[in-house]
Amino acid sequence: MSLLGVTGTTSLTGRQVWCRGTRSSETGPRGGLRAAVAALASILMRAPVRGIRGRWPRSLERLAPRLFRVDPRVLLDEEPSAEDFRAAMSILHVGATIKITGANRHAAADALLLEHVDLAGASLVDIGASDGSTSVELVAKLPDFRSYVIADLYLHLDAVQTRRHVFFHDAEGTCVLVAGRRLLAWPSLARWVRVLWTPLIAAARRRGTRRTVLLLGPDARRLLREDPRVATRVHDVFQPWEGPSPDVIKVANLLRRLYFGDEDIQRALGALLESLDEGGHLLLLDNPRIAGIDLRAGLYRRVGGRFTVVAETEHAPEIADLVRSEQLSVA
Ligand SMILES: C[S@@+](CC[C@H](N)C(=O)[O-])C[C@H]1O[C@@H](n2cnc3c(N)ncnc32)[C@H](O)[C@@H]1O
Repeated sequence: MSLLGVTGTTSLTGRQVWCRGTRSSETGPRGGLRAAVAALASILMRAPVRGIRGRWPRSLERLAPRLFRVDPRVLLDEEPSAEDFRAAMSILHVGATIKITGANRHAAADALLLEHVDLAGASLVDIGASDGSTSVELVAKLPDFRSYVIADLYLHLDAVQTRRHVFFHDAEGTCVLVAGRRLLAWPSLARWVRVLWTPLIAAARRRGTRRTVLLLGPDARRLLREDPRVATRVHDVFQPWEGPSPDVIKVANLLRRLYFGDEDIQRALGALLESLDEGGHLLLLDNPRIAGIDLRAGLYRRVGGRFTVVAETEHAPEIADLVRSEQLSVA
């Protein structure tokens, strides 16, 4: 997994960052300062600590933009913009993954589904839906569906606020992000960060004010209010779906090799297979950071206790080999 790679799939090394913003031939006092900043940036790039954008001298932020991130306090706003909310979600590391998402990045995958499956009266589930943006986009394209569940293992975080800081905790009580006045720290990503921030985290637990933050963006919240067919559920992709089997399960950018090993992915695929009835569909996709490939998607149907390929985009999903594997079957 990329450390703080806000791109979601790749992160640049400190050296690359330095190279992007520097000319090596530069000499003199300015060149010296730049070299010093670059050396520092190179060390800092590897640490799960960043500055908060807008709280530092602009010249510094311009010099090393990758050392700065958005202020996640936007997650606590009553009416954040969809874009700001998504940007803040993209710096949340939860479990093995990042909550990164984006607008309009599933169009070709959604088209596969709409083209090959009669969705009138269908029940759909989107597992690992992050802030729900991509669910909102798919719902808008559906014919008269029966139900749509926006599911994620991390639908809420606890935010503990003190005068200077906000501490975001997951359901297990792990502090996943600290936002100070100028600095952000990800204690769950490095032991030394945990050790340094532990006294503050502990003090905040005693004295701070606590509230639950719903990790759904404004568009998904509106959809939930306005359409009774749409609901949310906390669900772990490694577990079978409880209750009636959905007609379609969509899993996007969650079962990736940058997050999980093949054994775990196979386990999740087994749970997905088990969650579908015969004839049910799995829509699987990823948006890789590979030049010339925006999206890789596949639509699979459960037939005889196995997944069979219905359709794939020009490039099959990263884990298509595991989906097609003979070992993946249920009785
Ligand atoms: C990279 S985001 C993908 C967001 C969205 N599907 C998209 O493609 O834009 C991965 C999402 O999976 C969720 N997630 C991580 N582990 C999970 C698990 N075991 N079960 C369900 N969701 C999980 C994260 O909370 C996050 O929202």
